[in-house]
Amino acid sequence: MKKVRVELGSRSYDACIGSGGLGRAGPMLKELGLSGKAVIIIDTTVRGLYGERLERSLSGAGFRVSVLEVPPGEEQKSLATAGRLYRELTGAYAERQTPVLALGGGVIGDLAGFVAATYMRGVPLVQLPTTLLAQVDSCLGGKTAVDHDGLKNVIGVFYQPRLVVADIDTLKTLPVAEMANGIAEVIKYAAIRNRELFAYLEGVLGRAASLEAAALERMVLESVKIKAEIVAIDEQDSGLRGILNYGHTIGHAIEAASGFRFRHGQAVAMGMVAAARVSRRLGMLSDDDVFRLVGLIRKASLPTEVPALKIEEIIQAMKHDKKVKRDRVRFVLLEAIGQAMITDEVSLSLVEEVLRGR
Ligand SMILES: NC(=O)c1ccc[n+]([C@@H]2O[C@H](COP(=O)([O-])OP(=O)(O)OC[C@H]3O[C@@H](n4cnc5c(N)ncnc54)[C@H](O)[C@@H]3O)[C@@H](O)[C@H]2O)c1
Ligand SMILES: [Zn+2]
Repeated sequence: MKKVRVELGSRSYDACIGSGGLGRAGPMLKELGLSGKAVIIIDTTVRGLYGERLERSLSGAGFRVSVLEVPPGEEQKSLATAGRLYRELTGAYAERQTPVLALGGGVIGDLAGFVAATYMRGVPLVQLPTTLLAQVDSCLGGKTAVDHDGLKNVIGVFYQPRLVVADIDTLKTLPVAEMANGIAEVIKYAAIRNRELFAYLEGVLGRAASLEAAALERMVLESVKIKAEIVAIDEQDSGLRGILNYGHTIGHAIEAASGFRFRHGQAVAMGMVAAARVSRRLGMLSDDDVFRLVGLIRKASLPTEVPALKIEEIIQAMKHDKKVKRDRVRFVLLEAIGQAMITDEVSLSLVEEVLRGR
């Protein structure tokens, strides 16, 4: 397995990436000095696929394992489900030293992370992400949250895990649409920070129906390195971490305006193309780089063009965004593929022109 260190002083941790990770989780937890009880939080789908693999590894290393199961779906990121999990944790006699293991996608990672951060003022958290999006994005960086009153991620805390284990074998069973969701984020990392990774993606995406293990491992590893580097510089999201929002300002507006008919990755893909075109209009990005970005997103079977009917709603949704002040919107732009910058000076009228293809 490959290791990436997330450097956060006394809260530093390793992200381990590769094949066979779930089978090694038990010994890895012991190496961290953990022992006794362990609690797995997991959704029903992932339990059927990988629950036993993790349980076996933990029991083999001497842990007494409890499994807390929740149904799959974003609706479970709620205070109600968190409340149920607290009750089950006390029922399982979980103590301050009892590790909580989040095995699943970003929903389980955010929910179990929030529960681990708050139960007894914080118990050790281990992230075992099983979707590509969770492996390259949500498992790292310590943002945990639940949704509330129809608002996404409004109740949450920063809480770093003690360890991340991204077993790329789990991606074999991931549905195509979920895979595309994660690939959009991988393209984002390459576009903002790593031109070489971008060129690599141009070579591997769309060539075969499914990606080979070696390609997946490299995509996860390089993405994790970029996120780890950015989080180490700006843990609390007050500066550089903002560049991770590339494609997301317009992307979030597209998600909202379409009533979440577009998946997150699709919306971000369209958002990245629009942001690249805004960059070009401001004279920052070359035509060739815009062309390459559009080409790569197409290869990944992700959309590049915003549906014309929705443009009015998208602009409205952006106006409601906290990042908009006096018609100017905080925006991540590209200076080149592999190099991003943040500005407060993009006008909504320019965004609208670009979306309308003018
Ligand atoms: N904390 C952060 O920094 C951060 C960053 C990005 C996204 N998020 C959050 O992540 C969530 C989305 O995460 P997601 O896209 O992983 O969705 P998800 O957790 O809902 O997983 C998607 C689906 O795939 C299934 N699944 C998971 N692993 C599988 C596997 N290996 N094989 C087959 N099926 C599998 C799940 O049961 C689920 O039905 C959102 O709630 C979002 O807010 C958080
Ligand atoms: Zn995203």
